[in-house]
Amino acid sequence: MQKITTVSEMQALAGSLRAQGKTIGLVPTMGALHDGHLSLIKLAAQKADVVVVSVFVNPAQFGPSEDFNKYPRDLERDAGLCEKTGAHILFAPTNEEMYPKSYSTYVTEERVAKPLEGASRPTHFRGVTTVIAKLFNVTRPTFAVFGQKDAQQAAVIMKMTADMNFQVGIVVAPTVREEGGLAMSSRNRYLTNTQRAESLAISGALAHAKGMVANGERRVDRLVAEVTHLLGEKRRIRIIYVSIVDSRTMEPAREVIPGESLMVIAVWVDEVRLIDNMIF
Ligand code: PAF
Repeated sequence: MQKITTVSEMQALAGSLRAQGKTIGLVPTMGALHDGHLSLIKLAAQKADVVVVSVFVNPAQFGPSEDFNKYPRDLERDAGLCEKTGAHILFAPTNEEMYPKSYSTYVTEERVAKPLEGASRPTHFRGVTTVIAKLFNVTRPTFAVFGQKDAQQAAVIMKMTADMNFQVGIVVAPTVREEGGLAMSSRNRYLTNTQRAESLAISGALAHAKGMVANGERRVDRLVAEVTHLLGEKRRIRIIYVSIVDSRTMEPAREVIPGESLMVIAVWVDEVRLIDNMIF
């Protein structure tokens, strides 16, 4: 596996791979890799000649009071995992390389990014779309892989890719869950044992709602009320939102349409912010 830290070197390599007719699969990450990331790398390795994993804790997607400074970083461990999982290139640029002092251009998607995460983290998706647009230009991927865990992020990136005419396929891979159901996230390591135990209520509530839909329930308010009740039983959980939306547009659903509707949840578990979702 080759490790690259500069934009110019990455662009030159991507250009020469494309000229040789190779397909490139990009897996963008912020490092602190877990089995969820590894499943994205494995999927990319099945589909592409060359797998590029980017590891970059993107300052532009963190709000001023968010966890940018304390976000876990361990590039050596991440590099070992990437290599073992089938990555060919690790692209790990510095902040200065991605956002030099004179930097002043941002990409914003203005519809799908507005509600839910966009409402509680107003500059988050602008940071995500900006860094992904840059990574597309630097690594020249044939396709890029994102996790269903961040469903709104995947929807925003699909919309940006279409709107900006990027010739990049967007692949969305299923959420990987810990034993007990908690969706894997680099932020799970912030949880104490007690918080982790309470967090299981999130996937539990989603599974319960999915069961109700399987039994014929289509009323959005009924499902949201049930999930709100289940989460409300947990002392440490504070709901940020529980909503049922169209999985492509993130607009509120009027009734559940199986295969299209998505239940999305964001909560605080004490000071740790967690999200999860389930397609009905
Ligand atoms: O999902 C993430 O880890 C990040 O938002 C991403 C897509 C790597 C962009 O920084």
